Amino acid sequence: MNSIPDPERESFSSKFGILAATAGSAIGLGNIWRFPYVAGENGGGAFLFLYLGFVLALGIPVMLSEMLIGRNTLKSPVGAFVKLKKGRAWPLVGIMGVSGAFFILAFYAAVAGWTLEYLYQSVTNGFSGKSPDELGDMFNAFREGSWRPIIWFLVFMVMTSAIVISGVKKGIEKYTKILMPLLLAILVILSIRSLTLPGAGEGLRFLFEPDFSKITANTILQALGQAFFSLSIGMGTLITYGSYITKNNNLSSTVISVSLADTFIAILAGVAIFPAVFAFGIDPAAGEDLTFIALPSIFQQMVGGYFFSTLFFVLLAVAALTSTISMLEVVVTYFVEELKLKRKRATILASVLISTIGLFAAGSWGWFENMTLFGKNVFGLLNFTSVNLLLPLGGFFIVIFVGWFMGGKVVKDELSNEGSLKARFWLVFLFLVRFVAPIAIAVVFLNGIGIINF
Ligand code: PHE
Repeated sequence: MNSIPDPERESFSSKFGILAATAGSAIGLGNIWRFPYVAGENGGGAFLFLYLGFVLALGIPVMLSEMLIGRNTLKSPVGAFVKLKKGRAWPLVGIMGVSGAFFILAFYAAVAGWTLEYLYQSVTNGFSGKSPDELGDMFNAFREGSWRPIIWFLVFMVMTSAIVISGVKKGIEKYTKILMPLLLAILVILSIRSLTLPGAGEGLRFLFEPDFSKITANTILQALGQAFFSLSIGMGTLITYGSYITKNNNLSSTVISVSLADTFIAILAGVAIFPAVFAFGIDPAAGEDLTFIALPSIFQQMVGGYFFSTLFFVLLAVAALTSTISMLEVVVTYFVEELKLKRKRATILASVLISTIGLFAAGSWGWFENMTLFGKNVFGLLNFTSVNLLLPLGGFFIVIFVGWFMGGKVVKDELSNEGSLKARFWLVFLFLVRFVAPIAIAVVFLNGIGIINF
């Protein structure tokens, strides 16, 4: 099916713009905050091994599937399924994605708020002279406080909405083009410092030597969730971004570049963090605070630490921002299309609703510390369930849709840009999305939640 482009609908202006925006969505706190701490909790090397396998075998096919649906329909995740008319149940997958975006943004922006606090601490020299233990206490004191985590969270939500209101081209593209390469450069510098700390080798061994005895059903599910989270897939973000991509763009090369860059940055973050973790005697399984203790500890030990930590937290906040923009964009596109709201109204409505949930996430160690379920606070619940349950489920339905419902010809046409590219791999892709990906995701998922048992 060929869509007639809607003249009102924006699209990305250049090939580089598409890459920057998609990579901007993928690269964020998922790589630098979440990957290291989840890997640390799940045994290091074995987790990395699973993670890499999932990115390659499942992440790339899901990512390509999303972009293909988006570009084919030029719609939001819900509108896309409606438009393709393959049954009334399919738009529910889009609704699930929009809800995923909702919940993920709610806790993600809380962490993004932490980066602003850490930027503030860098500028005011707040880490100076503190030992790793003291840095840990400092983080906890901040997180357990009442106002600060909430205010920073709200500041971040306002920044995100402001950019989303201004639209795709002016907003998203402009910010990602310059700053992502800088983030990469500073991570390299951090890794070098970390690797030259005494005792760094143990950290490298932890990250790269798989100890398969540490793998449990839950570890496998977490590796899958993390792979999807880091690539921004499973909830329609890339259906939305795909809908801004023009017909002459090569989708598969975009997908390959973005997933390589995303994976490289996650590993690089691991290389910066784990040697320091071992050198400073930090517990690798410390949890969500790992990055926020390890990195300031490194900055304490390097020439120009003040400068680098300030620059780093600016860039981390920007990396988070290019990801939060992409989450909010999912909800906003949906509101614009389905509720027929103007972009500005839709953005404000979405931000207010998300911020309401997010308040509880940001205050999970402070005001709302007593709100717990299954031993998890609001933040923990949103973090665990949306990443490990909603994203794999979303990814499952998306590949099933592309593999079994979209039609081989549409898939081939999209991958080859109506025959102008060779796209010889399209049958391999079809095989992956028909059989390999759905079966693998289903097995990991059911095994992870305990319905089947290997
Ligand atoms: N991939 C982003 C990150 O790694 C997070 C994200 C998840 C963004 C899902 C959009 C959708 O930080």
